[in-house]
Amino acid sequence: MRHLLSIEQLSKTEIEAILDRAESFAEVGRRDIKKVPTLRGRTVVTLFYESSTRTSSSFELAAKRLSADLVSVKAAGSSVDKGESLKDTIATLSAYEPAAIVLRHPHAGAAELVARWADAAVVNAGDGKHEHPSQALLDVYTLRRRLGSLEGKRIWIVGDVLHSRVARSNLIAFKAMGAELTVCGPPALIPRGLEQLGCEVTHTLDHLGDAEVIYALRLQRERMQESFVPSIREYAAHFQIDSRRLGRRQLLMHPGPVNRGVELSGEVIDSPQSLIAEQVASGLVVRMAILYELLAAGDEPAPAHGNGAAPPTRIGQPA
Ligand code: CP
Repeated sequence: MRHLLSIEQLSKTEIEAILDRAESFAEVGRRDIKKVPTLRGRTVVTLFYESSTRTSSSFELAAKRLSADLVSVKAAGSSVDKGESLKDTIATLSAYEPAAIVLRHPHAGAAELVARWADAAVVNAGDGKHEHPSQALLDVYTLRRRLGSLEGKRIWIVGDVLHSRVARSNLIAFKAMGAELTVCGPPALIPRGLEQLGCEVTHTLDHLGDAEVIYALRLQRERMQESFVPSIREYAAHFQIDSRRLGRRQLLMHPGPVNRGVELSGEVIDSPQSLIAEQVASGLVVRMAILYELLAAGDEPAPAHGNGAAPPTRIGQPA
């Protein structure tokens, strides 16, 4: 894998190989010394043009746990504020000869452009409404740990699908893993032709009880140029997942950050069915696995047991 730009580029086998690798990093995370020397002497740049807590912090920690040198740039407060273009910013940061650039940008296709300009491996950490492939991988990882296989599992994605790069990447990833998908939201927040991704579309929560997993999405008010819902109160009345709607055996996911009291009620966020904190924890090991696949997997012989897990001699030694 040269870059991670889209979840579409990965087959089911390739997704499973990354998740197997993440499992081996979860084992490292249970040790006293959680750091391995895999990327010693290599530089990872994280460059974020949009706000982030989870993706930025987990990629930063992932790079550090792999012993890489880390350069972390947020556009706000950088020379982007003085008018420096994306191309010139990449040229500037490329002077440090990074092995990888992790980019979040408001424009769809930005990561693909950077992959053309830079010698480094590029990770798309979210490009506008287009894709968020590392989120999809960490969500599949989280569900695989809970459910084993996703084959035939009924997953509902509920909320603001129109503005959601997570919805697009997750639909593709969940489908590749064999899940049965339903998308639910108000008509104005569901893109036309979404069924082409292999999901059913509904505009009510009437049959939410059929779902084994409910994946709620944030209402992305910052991306809305016009009014897509009559009011927050009305949206919540029709689409909020609350304790009346969440069954005791259903699992609840959300990529974060959550608008508490809008798409989710406070009590379901903190309920035993909620995997939200687990998703954040998965983000670290999955992003370690992504950096590993991009920068180190080619350096070593094929795993002896064919399960994609890194051999203990490589990641088993503390830095
Ligand atoms: N899920 C997600 O991308 O969260 P952040 O915006 O906090 O990175």
